[in-house]
Amino acid sequence: MFRSRLPVLPVVGLLILSSNFLFLLIIRIPNKGLEAFSLPWEWPGNSDSLGDHPNISRFEWKPDLQKTTKARPLNQQPLATATTQHPLKVVYPHVYPFLINEPSKCQEWAPFLVLLVVSKPHDFTERQAIRQTWGNESSVPGVSIIRLFLLGADPLFRSPLQPLLEEESSLYRDIIQQEFLDTYNNLTLKTLMGMEWVTRFCPNATYVMKADSDIFLNVGYLVSKLLQPHLPPKKDYMTGYIYRNTGPLRDKAYKWYVPREVYPNDTYPPYCGGPGYVLSGDLAKKVFQVAQTIPVINMEDSFMGICLYTLGIEVTESPWGLFHVFKVDYEKCRFSELVVVHHYSPEELLQIWPNFTDQNKNCTSQN
Ligand SMILES: *[C@@H]1O[C@H](CO)[C@@H](O)[C@H](O)[C@H]1NC(C)=O
Ligand SMILES: *[C@@H]1O[C@H](CO)[C@@H](O)[C@H](O)[C@H]1NC(C)=O
Ligand SMILES: *[C@@H]1O[C@H](CO)[C@@H](O)[C@H](O)[C@H]1NC(C)=O
Ligand SMILES: *[C@@H]1O[C@H](CO)[C@@H](O)[C@H](O)[C@H]1NC(C)=O
Ligand SMILES: *[C@@H]1O[C@H](CO)[C@@H](O)[C@H](O)[C@H]1NC(C)=O
Ligand SMILES: *[C@@H]1O[C@H](CO)[C@@H](O)[C@H](O)[C@H]1NC(C)=O
Ligand SMILES: *[C@@H]1O[C@H](CO)[C@@H](O)[C@H](O)[C@H]1NC(C)=O
Repeated sequence: MFRSRLPVLPVVGLLILSSNFLFLLIIRIPNKGLEAFSLPWEWPGNSDSLGDHPNISRFEWKPDLQKTTKARPLNQQPLATATTQHPLKVVYPHVYPFLINEPSKCQEWAPFLVLLVVSKPHDFTERQAIRQTWGNESSVPGVSIIRLFLLGADPLFRSPLQPLLEEESSLYRDIIQQEFLDTYNNLTLKTLMGMEWVTRFCPNATYVMKADSDIFLNVGYLVSKLLQPHLPPKKDYMTGYIYRNTGPLRDKAYKWYVPREVYPNDTYPPYCGGPGYVLSGDLAKKVFQVAQTIPVINMEDSFMGICLYTLGIEVTESPWGLFHVFKVDYEKCRFSELVVVHHYSPEELLQIWPNFTDQNKNCTSQN
């Protein structure tokens, strides 16, 4: 049976990585642990819990990443060179070929909601937890949902991971991956890959949601409270946790550093926080198109705001308390009336999910 092979995936991954595995642990575990030191508050744009410690600047890492890709010339396509540009400049527009794609997911019918979930190649267990919890495509009766994980190419373990990803993809058909390095400062490319996929392969999707993998998401409440399938589809619509009057962080020490060469303005237009935001299908296409014409910056959520600003479209406020960029402790009745809570690990999700979906005690009359 296919299913019985599934738990093997991460294990096989670790075995293949063998000697590299220790190294992987060394880079990953301290990152998780150090998160507490990263900042005493949440800076808009923090949409990646496994990102680098703020004190590790991209410039220290970059030579390593380049060496790795040069040592393994797997891709035929020449990588875009950014030698004359600032290293944090996002190389765009540029044709990043799909390494893994799902071109026919929307062929039979247009989905009501496309869930685009940011993920990293080695995060097998995280994807599995999401499939079993909020990423379940059949969790809302009568509403067609498509789940896709957005991946780049692993900067260090590309060749051992790629066959595992292909196997995982053939099992679940929920991975899309493009030929760019999967790094924090390339996150915008992931979002744009999602927008490109909707534009090219799912143009009639009604709504699109971009989600980080470290969140709790209540898709049922999102659909019933905000998207309301019985109403005509919203146009030019984008909502989430809205940041206003913020600007780029200019200190190199931070993970969220944006150099002037990349974005000269001191302020960002209003934008929706990266952990989870929703947009109408028509807007996904417009964002993809306008992104071909303006400089792309390394903060994906702020960049979406810049796209909307360029398009002359405003973000839409949602009722207060639906999108949380800070952690909120689990409480069944509270969580049944919100959409997103940031900072939920796969273990926590799996732990709360049976309680959350338990129908023996309902919280409200509508829900
Ligand atoms: C950051 O790195 C610099 C030099 O690389 C060091 O002097 C400083 O103590 C570090 N800061 C933290 C918070 O680790
Ligand atoms: C997804 O949800 C449906 C309906 O609640 C359920 O029957 C199914 O077992 C779930 N799938 C997974 C992988 O949890
Ligand atoms: C982003 O991906 C491109 C293409 O693989 C790569 O050349 C570039 O170095 C990456 N940028 C960062 C900041 O990692
Ligand atoms: C999208 O909808 C339009 C108009 O209803 C239709 O002509 C077109 O074939 C649809 N495209 C896809 C890919 O389903
Ligand atoms: C950046 O600043 C320039 C000059 O003030 C202005 O024309 C432009 O609209 C600003 N862009 C954004 C995204 O705020
Ligand atoms: C679910 O969690 C709530 C607290 O959020 C608790 O009161 C309730 O008893 C739990 N239900 C089950 C079936 O575990
Ligand atoms: C809770 O709601 C579900 C679905 O709306 C329903 O099937 C179930 O019977 C309800 N449970 C109780 C105890 O009212």
